[in-house]
Amino acid sequence: MTPTIRDYIRTIPDFPHAGIMFRDVTTLFADARGFRMAVDQLLTPYAGIRFDKVVGLEARGFILGGAVAHQLSAGFVPARKKGKLPGAVISEAYQLEYGEAVIEIHDDALKPGERVLIVDDLLATGGTAEAGIRLCQRLGAEVIGCAFVIDLPDLGGRARLEGLGMAVHALTH
Ligand code: PRP
Ligand code: ADE
Repeated sequence: MTPTIRDYIRTIPDFPHAGIMFRDVTTLFADARGFRMAVDQLLTPYAGIRFDKVVGLEARGFILGGAVAHQLSAGFVPARKKGKLPGAVISEAYQLEYGEAVIEIHDDALKPGERVLIVDDLLATGGTAEAGIRLCQRLGAEVIGCAFVIDLPDLGGRARLEGLGMAVHALTH
C-alpha cells in the first residue's frame, strides 16, 4: 500500500518533557517521497490563489515554508524566536503546550495589503500560529490561510484559529 503522511511521522514519548508525545517530522522530511507528498498536499487548497509571502514559523516551518514559497512563486519570511533576527523587529509573546516563547519578524518584512500564507509543521494549542498571525496583521498584511502538516485537535489550535476567522489546512491529525 502507498504510505500516507502519517506513516512517515515518528512519535517520541516524553520529549521534551515527561508526558509530551512529540510528533517528529524529521522522518517525513528525510524521505524523498514523503517530503514531496507533504509539500504538494500543503499546496492543494491554494491552487489559483495568489500569495505575496509565505511566513514560516521557526523552526520546522522554515523547511516546509521555503518549499511552499518556491512552488507559489512567493517570497519567504521567517518568524523567528526572540533575538535571532538581525534587523529591527516586532515581537509577540505566546504560551506553548510546554512553556512560553516570543517570536519576531523584521518590521519591514511585509507590506500593508500583502497576502500571506502561514506555514508550520504542527498545530497544537495554536499559540505560535496566533502570534504569527498577529505579527503579520500588525504590519498590515492579510493572512489568507494557515497550513500545517499535523493538527492535534484535542489541544484546541484549530478552533482557536478558526475563531479568529482563519482558514486552517492540515494534512493529518
Ligand atoms: C512546535 C511546532 C509549532 C508549535 C506548535 O514548535 O513546530 O511551531 O510547537 O505549538 P502550539 O500550537 O501550541 O503553539 P516548538 O515551539 O517546539 O519550536 P521549534 O520548532 O523551534 O522546536
Ligand atoms: N509542539 C507542540 N506540541 C508538540 C508535539 N506534541 N509534538 C511536536 N511538536 C509539538
